[in-house]
Amino acid sequence: MRIAMICLGNICRSPMAAAVATKMVAQGGLADQVLVESFGTAGYHAGEPMNPGARAALKRHGWPSDGHLARRITPADARAADLLLVADHSNLADVRRLTGERDRAKIRLLRSFDPRSLPADLEVPDPWGGSPADFDHALDLIEAACVGLVEHLASELL
Ligand code: 4NP
Repeated sequence: MRIAMICLGNICRSPMAAAVATKMVAQGGLADQVLVESFGTAGYHAGEPMNPGARAALKRHGWPSDGHLARRITPADARAADLLLVADHSNLADVRRLTGERDRAKIRLLRSFDPRSLPADLEVPDPWGGSPADFDHALDLIEAACVGLVEHLASELL
């Protein structure tokens, strides 16, 4: 099972989501069944490491933050994934444009996996250029969603 975490630049939200989900997948005993990757819909930062604010937030929250290099999602990446989890509605529209009709059912807002999220509030707000508190808030939302995501995966795979 391949999961693609997707935001705009692939330097803040989706790499944080991939770091959190990868660790939770391992803690849930699913590491040999689930691969979590991350992508951006834009290539502005392709080849760059994670944004320092995102790395710092991951460190504050006790998650690993090494080894990320940003990349832009391609149609082949989207086809290869089983779930395309986007951070906001703008990413949703961009990924829908990238995929064929058949792959559209695989696209979901990441926060739709948070059982406490509300249908009118399903975005992970973009923390790029924001304060440490903005990054912490985005990461809090990502963590809550990833708990629900991994419960969903466990129910499907275990
Ligand atoms: P991300 O944040 O989509 O969470 O990685 C952003 C990173 C870069 C830009 C926008 C958002 N940018 O416009 O370069």
